[in-house]
Amino acid sequence: MSRKFRSILMVLVLALVFGACAKKNETKPAKTIIRVGHNQSQNHPTHLGLLAFEKYVEENLGDKYDVQVYPSELLGSQIDMVQLTQTGAINICVASNAILETFNDVREIFNLPYLFASSEAYHHVMDDPSIVKPIFESTRDGGFEGVCWLDAGSRSFYTKDKPINSVADLKGLKIRVQQSPTNVKMMNLLGSSASPMGFGEVYTALQSGIIDGAENNEMALTDNGHGEVCKYYSYDMHQMVPDIVIANYHWLESLPKEDRKVFDEGFKILNEVQRKEWQTAVSKAKDKAENELGVEFIYPDQKPFVDAVSPLTQEVLKRNEKLIPFYEAIQKYNKQFPAKEG
Ligand code: GCU
Repeated sequence: MSRKFRSILMVLVLALVFGACAKKNETKPAKTIIRVGHNQSQNHPTHLGLLAFEKYVEENLGDKYDVQVYPSELLGSQIDMVQLTQTGAINICVASNAILETFNDVREIFNLPYLFASSEAYHHVMDDPSIVKPIFESTRDGGFEGVCWLDAGSRSFYTKDKPINSVADLKGLKIRVQQSPTNVKMMNLLGSSASPMGFGEVYTALQSGIIDGAENNEMALTDNGHGEVCKYYSYDMHQMVPDIVIANYHWLESLPKEDRKVFDEGFKILNEVQRKEWQTAVSKAKDKAENELGVEFIYPDQKPFVDAVSPLTQEVLKRNEKLIPFYEAIQKYNKQFPAKEG
């Protein structure tokens, strides 16, 4: 084959390839990648819920969007992810309401200890748009909005060396809390020293003895391995802090109406799947912690814990008066769904 002929052939091949690409691009525009980040493992109800969300969106709009779910802090800690969602570098992330209070203080409400009388009251409040909608929308100026909530159960203390049977047992202990001023104040009232840090740092901090314990739902014992180090879990149940799925506000607003409908339905599915999975995940975690990791579950008298932290609610409602209508609306559900005896 002559050199000239080879060159012509090469040009023809390249033209064909580029032509094909151009044609492909004409008929099939590149998909928009939707990045979703969270800090849980791939077994966690939150991840399973997000996979159901991905499936639904792609079944309906798969030619336009490629939803990519990044678990396990792959996109950074929760605070990093919230900031990335604010700027639009990622579209959606899951953040505990605890850390969101620093972005808008109306979100302080769901961080108050013993706010909900029962998990039924908690669920009804979180499902009531007249309460949650204004709170979810409160951070639009900051670039993001809540699109649904996820169950994160109730939070209790767990420790390495010393079981917490009473408030006095917390005295002087270093306890990891989420990065929220409310949590720091709560620990001060309980006589402990609060060590705020990101979730991903807790295991090493426990193991190396930087902290004596932490507080979370039962899944942290198994899914995050904290039960390998902490052998006492005390059900004081001081908070029910929801996880909030947040999305970049400008991205949400820029979605064509029909697409937005699909995403909104996807958020509903995410909430339903996560909550259903949550019920079984917690009892499995408790069983595994007790029987495989040897964690002892303790049921202290809750009243002294409630009394010790009650000044916090008074202080917050006095300082942040806009929370009062929300607080009162929550009390109605508390009356309707009181704590169960025993
Ligand atoms: C729970 C919650 C997370 C949160 C974590 C924490 O696991 O679901 O959103 O990050 O607690 O204690 O930081």
